[in-house]
Amino acid sequence: MASELKPFSIGPVRVGFPVVLAPMAGYTDLAYRLICRQRGAEYCTSEMVLDRCALIHGKLRSRLLCLDPGDHPVGGQLIGNEPEVMAEAARAMEQIGFDVVDLNFACPVHKALSRRRGGHMMRESEQVLRIVRAVRAAVDCPVTLKVRRSFDEADHECEAFWRIAEGAFDAGADALTLHTRSVEAKYAGRADWELLARVKGHFADKTIIGSGDVLRPADALAMLEQTGVDAAAVARG
Ligand SMILES: Cc1cc2nc3c(=O)[nH]c(=O)nc-3n(C[C@H](O)[C@H](O)[C@H](O)COP(=O)(O)O)c2cc1C
Repeated sequence: MASELKPFSIGPVRVGFPVVLAPMAGYTDLAYRLICRQRGAEYCTSEMVLDRCALIHGKLRSRLLCLDPGDHPVGGQLIGNEPEVMAEAARAMEQIGFDVVDLNFACPVHKALSRRRGGHMMRESEQVLRIVRAVRAAVDCPVTLKVRRSFDEADHECEAFWRIAEGAFDAGADALTLHTRSVEAKYAGRADWELLARVKGHFADKTIIGSGDVLRPADALAMLEQTGVDAAAVARG
């Protein structure tokens, strides 16, 4: 198994251990990340932050976006739907000291979907790519995105996913995290690791992080081994 535990890179950011902390709203704040780092998570991502919140100086921004010298490399995750606002927020994240800006196009929560954010954006692939391009142009640090396989559960072709992935890498995205459930499925059913393997096979020279059903240590090792992804993200596990 040890042969699968290789370092990986997100652009110029090198991560020594390929089991990473997934973003989780309400959980992955600074204190939680520091505890996970003590347990071996070398790369962690913040909980999602609304782009506008990253731009308004105040208690919420200070709480959500606080960092510590021991909290690197760290990704800051943004959620939003307007290229200009996302770009400005990404610039703010970079200035605060986040090493990577991660863009959330995966959240299945009703509040996000009803406001055309998160997983809703799997239905607006062109707008996703406009956002990726705007953010890429706005920051020097690596840019990554978190997506689901599709919006509709019945969509087995996953056309929007492939369009977004191709377009995002063409636009200079440094990595992609794929949660292989549909947005509609939320957290129900099994994550589709076969799709993860196909995606990694297709984007062999790109950094792909797998998400979904890494609930025990053995699951992380199995995901790395069975799919070939560069890293396995731990969320509910
Ligand atoms: C409580 C909770 C909060 C989450 N918040 C976020 C979030 O803020 N951003 C995000 O991209 N994914 C979020 N997720 C999704 C996880 O990062 C992960 O993709 C998902 O849970 C699938 O992995 P798992 O089956 O191993 O739990 C959240 C998941 C949970 C359970």
